[in-house]
Amino acid sequence: MIKDVERILVTEEQIMEAVQRIAKEIEKDYEGKEVLFVGLLKGSIAFMADLIKAYTKTCTIDFMAVSSYGAGTESSGRVNIIKDLSVPIDGKDIIIVEDIIDSGNTLSFIKAYFGAKNANSVRICTLLNKPSRRVVDIPVDYIGYDIEDEFVIGYGLDYNEHYRNLPYVGVLKRSIYS
Ligand code: IMP
Ligand code: MG
Repeated sequence: MIKDVERILVTEEQIMEAVQRIAKEIEKDYEGKEVLFVGLLKGSIAFMADLIKAYTKTCTIDFMAVSSYGAGTESSGRVNIIKDLSVPIDGKDIIIVEDIIDSGNTLSFIKAYFGAKNANSVRICTLLNKPSRRVVDIPVDYIGYDIEDEFVIGYGLDYNEHYRNLPYVGVLKRSIYS
């Protein structure tokens, strides 16, 4: 464990359990359909990589990058598209892959955006969920773990672009950001 981590919240083993469970659930739900997994950069990269490797059916992938945070630990509520989709999505069955859902601002924006582009269906898959922080009511279809209101890093999640490379999810020491 590195010195900036207060404690490990989700271990590598627990992450892989969630990945396997969710991949199986999606395979069952999308029997006979072809899923387009859309990962939100950069936070979803680790989860996206593991999830698609655990998924054994035919699928395609794409990425989008949006920002709502700036440099702090609070969502600003404004969502900007930094990198758009690279494939047409009309008629597609999309699963948005996210690292963590906090206020819900990012996902409600993206879900509406995909709906307007005539996707056939749009569901949301997230490794982590902070239900107590929700501002916008948005249904989340696949959840790895619900967590308390703590700022977490690792396995794709960052604070000021750092710590994404940690193989586990940890709670960041308060002294680092306050
Ligand atoms: P929302 O729009 O408030 O739901 O924010 C979602 C995005 O904020 C996530 O995709 C993360 O990039 C970021 N975020 C929210 N909570 C955390 C956290 O605890 N650690 C790191 N990033 C977070
Ligand atoms: Mg993110």
